[in-house]
Order: sequence, then C-alpha cells, then structure tokens
Amino acid sequence: MLAPTSVPWATGESLGHYFERRGVSRRDFLKFCGEMTAILGLATALTPRVVRALESIRRPSVVWLSLQECTGCTESFLRTAEPTAGDAAEKALHDAMAANKGKYLLVVTGSIPLAEQGVYTTIAGRTAKQIVEEAAADAAAILAVGACAHWGNVQAAKPNPTGAVGVRDVVRGKPIVNIAGCPPIADVVTATIVHYLTFGKVPELDRDGRPMFAYGARIHDQCPRRANYDAGQFVERFDDDAARKGWCLYHVGCKGPQTFSPCPIVLWNTRTSWPIGAGHPCIGCTEVGFWDTMTPFYRRLSNVAGVGVERNADLLGAAAAIGTVAGVAAHAGATMIARMRARRELPVYGQPSMTPPSGAPGVTLPADARVPTAMSSTASPLPNESAADRGRPDA
Ligand code: SF4
Ligand code: SF4
Ligand code: F3S
Repeated sequence: MLAPTSVPWATGESLGHYFERRGVSRRDFLKFCGEMTAILGLATALTPRVVRALESIRRPSVVWLSLQECTGCTESFLRTAEPTAGDAAEKALHDAMAANKGKYLLVVTGSIPLAEQGVYTTIAGRTAKQIVEEAAADAAAILAVGACAHWGNVQAAKPNPTGAVGVRDVVRGKPIVNIAGCPPIADVVTATIVHYLTFGKVPELDRDGRPMFAYGARIHDQCPRRANYDAGQFVERFDDDAARKGWCLYHVGCKGPQTFSPCPIVLWNTRTSWPIGAGHPCIGCTEVGFWDTMTPFYRRLSNVAGVGVERNADLLGAAAAIGTVAGVAAHAGATMIARMRARRELPVYGQPSMTPPSGAPGVTLPADARVPTAMSSTASPLPNESAADRGRPDA
C-alpha cells in the first residue's frame, strides 16, 4: 500500500503511469493485484483483468463524507494525518460533484443523526442528512464504510439519543455497499473499490448490503481455534492455561459463531493479527445492533444457531426463520475463504499453536471433553454446555 503522499495522482493520468512516477515496481503492483483478486474470491485467471483495469484507469472521483464518527474508519483506511479542512474542503466537495455528476463514488463514514432536526452533526451550517442527500443524488454508487455509516453503531445503541441511523436509512434508489465493522478492514474497502473499477459495478451483496466476498462466511467457520471448539477445549479465564495454549474463547464470550467477517483470513494492520489471534473474543462488530445484541461482551452466547461451515448471513437468517437448519446447501465454492485456503495465498499469523481436529492422529482430548457428533442448533448440546445453559440468554 502506498503511504500518504504530497505527490498527487494527476487528472487524466493512468494509474499505471502514476505508480511508475511514484517508483512502485511492476512486481509490487502485480502482487497488489493478485492480493485483491484473492480477497475478492475471484479465480486467479482473472488477475490479468484486474491488472489491465487498474493500470489503465484514469483518476476516478471519490467524494468522502465524514459525519458522526470517531475517525477510526478513516484511520483504518488511510492512516494519514493530512486532512483538508474548512472552505477548501467545501469547495473541493462541490467542484468534484459538479465535474463528475453521476460518475463519482461516494464514501461515507459516520452515522447520520436525525433527532432534533439533525442538529447533532452539522458542517458548514448544514445537517449530515442534508449533506448526504445532496452528495448521494449524483453519485454512481455509495460505500458506507464502518458500522456508523452502516447502521448507526454505538451512537444508535439504546436509547439512541441523537436518533443516529446509517446511510441506507436516508438514501434510496442508489447502490449502497455496507463495509461492516468498527472499523472495517482496510483491505475490504480497497477490494470493493477494485471490484467497482474492474467490473463497473458493486460486488454481490448479502441481505444486509455487505459484500459477499468478505462477509459470506462466519468467523467461527474460519477460525484457527475451531478445532479446539470441536474438541471441547475452552478458555475459562484470560489467565488460565487454556488461554496460554490458545484454546477456544467461546466460554469467555466469543461471538464468532454469530458474526460474519473475513478477519481470520484477511487479518488486520497489514496482515499482522486479529482479535481472536491476539487472545480476545470477537465482539461481533460487523453485525447490526451488536452493542445491544452481543452484550455483555464477556458472557458466552447461550446457543449457536445454524452450525455448519460456509453458511452466509442470508442462509442463516432464512434457516432461523423457518425454525430449522436442515437442508441448506453448502456454499464452499462461493466463498473467498475456501479459495484462499485452497490456494494457500494468505497464511494465518498471530495464532498460538493449533490443536489438530478432533479424531486426528495424536490428539488427546481432556477427560471432560464432549465431542459433538451431529451439530444442530435444535438438537445437540454444545461442547461442555450444561442443560441449564441451553436456551438461556447469555447463560
Ligand atoms: Fe469509529 Fe467504529 Fe464508527 Fe468507524 S465504525 S467511525 S471506528 S465508531
Ligand atoms: Fe473461534 Fe470464537 Fe468459534 Fe472459538 S467460538 S472457534 S474462538 S470463533
Ligand atoms: Fe470485529 Fe470480531 Fe473481527 S470483533 S474485528 S468481527 S474478530
């Protein structure tokens, strides 16, 4: 990734030429394209198409609105300290929208407060709602980056005093991609933009508006500690021996079984680590309403609905709606995770040593471990789960 620079990409200049001018080697550029192809879950054969599309594009116009937020999303994506502010920013905004009418990408971070006529976020005398509506009117597509722009986030947690909502609650009739997470992984934002530039449309979305290539599989089904979960090996306290061994965090509150995100595969901070890799439970930050639905964060989920590898949020929701998880087709071939694993393109870092799956040669299970034989949300108990725990919220 390029560091923030004072050498701007000139209007009319191709990206390939700009990279050349910046001293980016052909090798690094091809590597970047290969990584984006992998993250998008595309076949390797499509990498040349991504290369051609990216090297030939001229500078696209992106309008970026920062509303009611903590700037974490912007930091995650840009890691820059060169903001443009004040009148210059307002002028740049309006010039860009006028010059690229109907063609620009609108990126929004932050929620939109609607209470009290929107007074909780105003910029240059206009409310966030007015600003978003104006910018969205002539946008080709919208990226709502982060949980705040997606659905309102912590500001929208009960009792939601500012009436915070996400972009989709204000804008209608435009393609809106929700890049979920607090904040989201920068590579997912980049890959979504690469998809748009390569194919001229937004990627396939789930029912929550999230790109399927990134949010099409549960954390739990991609987690390096899943073998420990299946073997009934759980951390009970953050300072116990199981924690040191890197066992499953389900008993200390991990929400991975109900969270859809590519964190275990794409990782964070230029592929350094991720929450569970660092020994902390997933708090479900890519799911709508997680401050209300996933709390208390350090209490275990009472039940895991729809256990089965490669479910996506749509299938899980549909299964729950009809009260069964049976008969839902596996979608392994469609997920980026399966492809990345098969192609071994992205290693998993930051994990303590893993225990092989239960039943594999050389595995010694603890005396009290119970290994589920048929996993079902309606019939089988979870490993080490007492009858009293089952069916009780946050037992
Ligand atoms: Fe900050 Fe999270 Fe909102 Fe991003 S989604 S602006 S990191 S609170
Ligand atoms: Fe991983 Fe959490 Fe699932 Fe355990 S409960 S396997 S730590 S995602
Ligand atoms: Fe968020 Fe869970 Fe990933 S808390 S960062 S979705 S591991």
